[in-house]
Amino acid sequence: MCFCAIISNVLLYPILERIAIKVSKMEQLSLLDYIEGEEETTTEKPKEIITEYPICDFDSIFNSKSFEETHNQHSMTILGNCIEVMKQMKEKSINMIFADAPYGIGKDFGNDSDKWETVEAYTNWCKQWIDECMRVLTDDGTMYFMTATQHMPYLDIYVAEKYNVLCRIVWTYDSSGVQSKKMYGSLYEPILMINKSSKAKYTFNHKDILVEAKTGAKRKLIDYRKNPPQPYSTEKVPGNVWDFSRVRFKMDEYENHPTQKPEALLERIIKASSNIGDVILDPFSGSFTTSAVANRLGRNAIGIELNPEYFEMGIRRTGIATEYKGKSLAKEKVRKTNAKSKYVRD
Ligand SMILES: C[S@@+](CC[C@H](N)C(=O)[O-])C[C@H]1O[C@@H](n2cnc3c(N)ncnc32)[C@H](O)[C@@H]1O
Repeated sequence: MCFCAIISNVLLYPILERIAIKVSKMEQLSLLDYIEGEEETTTEKPKEIITEYPICDFDSIFNSKSFEETHNQHSMTILGNCIEVMKQMKEKSINMIFADAPYGIGKDFGNDSDKWETVEAYTNWCKQWIDECMRVLTDDGTMYFMTATQHMPYLDIYVAEKYNVLCRIVWTYDSSGVQSKKMYGSLYEPILMINKSSKAKYTFNHKDILVEAKTGAKRKLIDYRKNPPQPYSTEKVPGNVWDFSRVRFKMDEYENHPTQKPEALLERIIKASSNIGDVILDPFSGSFTTSAVANRLGRNAIGIELNPEYFEMGIRRTGIATEYKGKSLAKEKVRKTNAKSKYVRD
C-alpha cells in the first residue's frame, strides 16, 4: 500500500501534472495554433534594414518588355511566364538568382502551373528555365534553386554536367502537424547552389552569415592544440544543413501563399552570395519573399510571377505601391487550412 503511494506520488504525479499543463495550454490556443507550433511564433527578432543603396536602371536589363510590370528605383515586379520574360533580358545582367519553381507535385497556385504528366515532362521544363537563368546570370554570379526531394537528383545531374555545383544544401524544419505513421516524416527540402563553371569567381560573404559555434559560445571549451591554448571561436560559417522554421500564421511576414519561404532563409542566401547594390532575380516569386528581403538588405530586385494575385502581393510587399489599378493592396491574412505542404502517407 505504502509502496503504491510512493510510486503514484513520485512517478505518476509529475507526469499527470505535465499533461494537465499541456491540456490547459491547448485550451488557450486554437487547435491550428497548437499544430503550427506556439513557441516558434513568439521569437521574431528585429530585422536588419538598409535604406540607402545604389538605384537600378531596370530598362538597361531588357532588350524588349512585352509584359505587364511595375517598378520603383529598387524593385520591379513582373506579371508573366518567367521563361518568356527572361528571354527578353540581356545575357549576364543579373548578379544572383533564387528560383523556387513549382515542385511538380500538383500544388494549387491558382493557375495549374504545377501539373505535369510525367517526371520527364517536369524536369524538361525545369531544364528550360535553368538554362535561361544561367544565360542572364553574370559570369561571377550564383544561382540557388529548389524543387521536390524526388526531382532534385535529375536536375542535380543536369547542372553538374553543364554548369558547376557549389553546394548541396538541406533546409530542415520541425513539424508538429500531421505526420505519417508508416514512414519517417518528410522534414527537409533540398536547395542547390550553382554557378557557371568551377573556374568562375563567386561572391561568398562568409562574415555576414556567421552563426553561433556551440563549442565556444555555450560550452566555453579551450583549444589545447594551440600554443598558448585559446578559447574556441564563438561563431562559425554555417554548414549545409539549415534549420529555419517554416512561415507560421502568427508571424508578421506571413502572406496568403501556399509555399511561402521564410525571410531568414532568403536573408542567409542573399547576404552570402550578393553585395549591396547588386541585382537579384526570382523567376517564380510567389509572395515575393526574395524581392522583399533583397530590398531590405540593400539589393535591387526583379520578381516574376504568373498569378496576378501574387503579382499584386509583390507590388505591396516590395513597397512599390499600396494600390494597383484602383484596387487597394492592403494585407488580409487568411489561414492556409487546406494547403497540406507535404504528402503524408496514411
Ligand atoms: C514555389 S512558389 C514560390 C514561392 C516563393 N518562393 C515565396 O516565398 O512565396 C512558385 C510560384 O511560381 C509561380 N509560377 C508557376 N509557373 C510560373 C512561370 N512559368 N512563370 C512565373 N511564375 C510561375 C506560381 O504561381 C507560384 O506562385
